[in-house]
Amino acid sequence: MTTPLRIGIAGLGTVGAGVVKIVQARANLIAQRGGRPITISAVSARTRDKDRGVDLSAYAWEDDPVVLARREDIDVFVELMGGSDGPAKAATEAAIAAGKDVVTANKAMLAVHGQALAEAAEAADRVIRFEAAVAGGIPVVKALTEGLAGNQITRVMGVMNGTCNYILTRMESEGLPYEKVFEEANALGYLEADPTLDVGGIDAGHKLSLLAAIAFGTRVDFPAMELEGIERISIDDIHHAADMGFRIKLLGVAQMTGRGLEQRMSPCLVPATSPLGQLEGPTNMVVLEGDAVGQIVLRGAGAGEGPTASAVMADVIDIARGTRVSTFGQPAAGLAQSRAARASAAAPYYLRMELEDKPGALAKVAAALGEAGISIDRMRQYRHAASTAPVLVVTHKTTRDALDHARAGFAATGVVVGDPVAIRIEEV
Ligand code: NAP
Ligand code: HSE
Repeated sequence: MTTPLRIGIAGLGTVGAGVVKIVQARANLIAQRGGRPITISAVSARTRDKDRGVDLSAYAWEDDPVVLARREDIDVFVELMGGSDGPAKAATEAAIAAGKDVVTANKAMLAVHGQALAEAAEAADRVIRFEAAVAGGIPVVKALTEGLAGNQITRVMGVMNGTCNYILTRMESEGLPYEKVFEEANALGYLEADPTLDVGGIDAGHKLSLLAAIAFGTRVDFPAMELEGIERISIDDIHHAADMGFRIKLLGVAQMTGRGLEQRMSPCLVPATSPLGQLEGPTNMVVLEGDAVGQIVLRGAGAGEGPTASAVMADVIDIARGTRVSTFGQPAAGLAQSRAARASAAAPYYLRMELEDKPGALAKVAAALGEAGISIDRMRQYRHAASTAPVLVVTHKTTRDALDHARAGFAATGVVVGDPVAIRIEEV
């Protein structure tokens, strides 16, 4: 009889309960694939007597995840509580110090503390695996660290937050305003405990920063990410985009340039007929580009019990097999500190603004754009009843610097009300 791999699970919510279900339902299959049985020794969550839809009676219970992490009868600590600090970080550190391997779905913790945790794990000859932290069930971490290890990665991009994609596609399909669909997503349990992580682009930014570290051999640098969420996208923006043959997606792009590492996560207009434009609901898509392989497109469920637990189990089974891969695909101490570069590639932009409805207002906006060196492709003022007029401008290709210059110019016109919405048009 081979020695079982014994796991301890901290966090029995959506993902944790899903992992327990797979371990219980697929014991034989997992033992065959991992080369040894995988058993659960102990579990932890905040509330012991909550019905989680799974039988936990065979496992020891710990109120404190740190105590669980140190237990002698576990080999792998599975962290599924969430949160960048607090018990997740404390228990992960305790597990490494106690000589346990770690599997986590916690992108927030790794985006902030990934470098320190990876160094600690490697110093203790332990591994940290985090497939479930990025794009749910899509095996993108494995694809980058292993499948594409022979490539110079040139670009990583994608839609990596299921909640935002659900909100944006539902706004379009049902013609509903942002606030209404946000409430719907909340009722469906899609939103993170702190919803600004989702709609503010932070959760997707965390994920992209982890992929960028692997892709470019750099330390995770989430603070350098250019971030913008979807909170200001209105149903009018969705309709205007659709009229022009585009859809709005929260799109992330990371690439290494001669000036440094560009990382941005922001709403973009993408062609409605493109693979990214056709993503519906909480689906994710990650596009990886390598010098030898060309382009790889991975698409699948970015969240939810089954898909995320599937990714957690892949990591646990890898550990059972004896696969030992450095957290970010190469020894953490050797990862370079990246030089952050502002995304600079020129692109057309969609601008929506409210103008005082008085003579010369449009001319002043056109002049501000011209002054910034921005050429107008299309411009349209919509019917309105209020004292301000909604105006849509589509520019020819321009840079972010020129756009910032134009925005300063808008403020000086005295006719632009509030801050215009500016969305990059990405020709993917
Ligand atoms: P969840 O449903 O909110 O579950 C969190 C679990 O952690 C709960 O069981 C909770 O206990 C437990 N917990 C929280 N604080 C604790 C503490 N101080 N001590 C002990 N247990 C504690 O969260 P989830 O959706 O499963 O997400 C878990 C992790 O997976 C997060 O890092 C999340 O970002 C990541 N993730 C989730 C998804 C997804 O689709 N849900 C996808 C990818 C990654 P109680 O149940 O007793 O409250
Ligand atoms: N809140 C995340 C999302 C969960 O919507 O994609 C998966 O990481």
